[in-house]
Amino acid sequence: MASTIAILISMDLEQRVAVVTGGGSGIGEALTLALADAGAAHVVVADIDEDQAQRVAKAVGGTAAGIDVRDEAAIGALVAATQDVHGPIGLFASNAGYVTAGGLEDGNERIQAMWEVHVMAHVHAARAVVPQMIANDGGYLLNTASAAGLLTQIGSLAYSVTKHAAVALAEWLAITHYHQGIRVSVLCPQAVRTNILENSPDAAISEWDGLDAGVAGRDGVVEPGEVARLCLEAIGEERFWVLPHPEVADYAVRKATDIDRWLAGMRRLQSALHPDGPLPGDAIAPEPWQRPAPPG
Ligand SMILES: NC(=O)c1ccc[n+]([C@@H]2O[C@H](COP(=O)([O-])OP(=O)(O)OC[C@H]3O[C@@H](n4cnc5c(N)ncnc54)[C@H](O)[C@@H]3O)[C@@H](O)[C@H]2O)c1
Repeated sequence: MASTIAILISMDLEQRVAVVTGGGSGIGEALTLALADAGAAHVVVADIDEDQAQRVAKAVGGTAAGIDVRDEAAIGALVAATQDVHGPIGLFASNAGYVTAGGLEDGNERIQAMWEVHVMAHVHAARAVVPQMIANDGGYLLNTASAAGLLTQIGSLAYSVTKHAAVALAEWLAITHYHQGIRVSVLCPQAVRTNILENSPDAAISEWDGLDAGVAGRDGVVEPGEVARLCLEAIGEERFWVLPHPEVADYAVRKATDIDRWLAGMRRLQSALHPDGPLPGDAIAPEPWQRPAPPG
């Protein structure tokens, strides 16, 4: 049974209907263009910024949807409407996201908000689309996480944790629904040349220092078109990790084989990124009254 399904879905994107969230900019926009180029039957471009979704959808003769991926009912309605009008969805690219800077001093609501976008949105998408894919001989989930999901994001607690969870969820989906014809890839880039810093609603974002100078840009900044090409290649080969920066695989091996050495290396990197201090953790430095009184 599983092998029959595998043959049926062997991921020829031609004539398949695709949905791309965060499709109004950056990686999502490039994915939309690449999918259209690859002969997708129809691409639905979903983005909280409806004007940008319209612009990109227009470029490929697709459909725009102005939705917030945190809204499970909206995702469910989008999946149902897409199937009704265009047919079963073959690929759902759950890609919307943004960045923040901040550690323990960040408020819970900011951490929760990022959790909703980087993790729950993937849950909402899978819950809506997987049953429909199973009923139609399988389909593909492409979830955007980040290299931070395999390693870490210096200076952002919320980004590190939510992107790790996004990778964990993708792994779980790839194991749990494989026999039903569901295939999963998770995109884990370092820096990609997009407008993510400008699009992220965070005054502290200058702490990322721009894509080139920041930690994510140390191995180079990849163009979104190249990221999209690599995603389609990985989908064609049913490869789980999409790593536009191949170094990330080596870092993940080093992390897994000697975690203490890896942590020490990351601490050195953090210090090198902030040569004149303060370090990100210093935002939570104790007040003088919280320190013990000097002896005597
Ligand atoms: N650019 C990078 O360096 C980089 C690196 C690693 C991972 N990523 C990830 O790639 C994904 C795409 O980012 P990008 O770089 O293309 O950024 P981008 O800002 O160019 O595009 C992200 C899009 O997502 C949309 N979006 C944000 N929140 C949304 C929500 N709640 N509902 C619907 N749409 C929403 C934005 O409006 C925007 O159009 C994100 O998940 C990001 O974390 C980016």
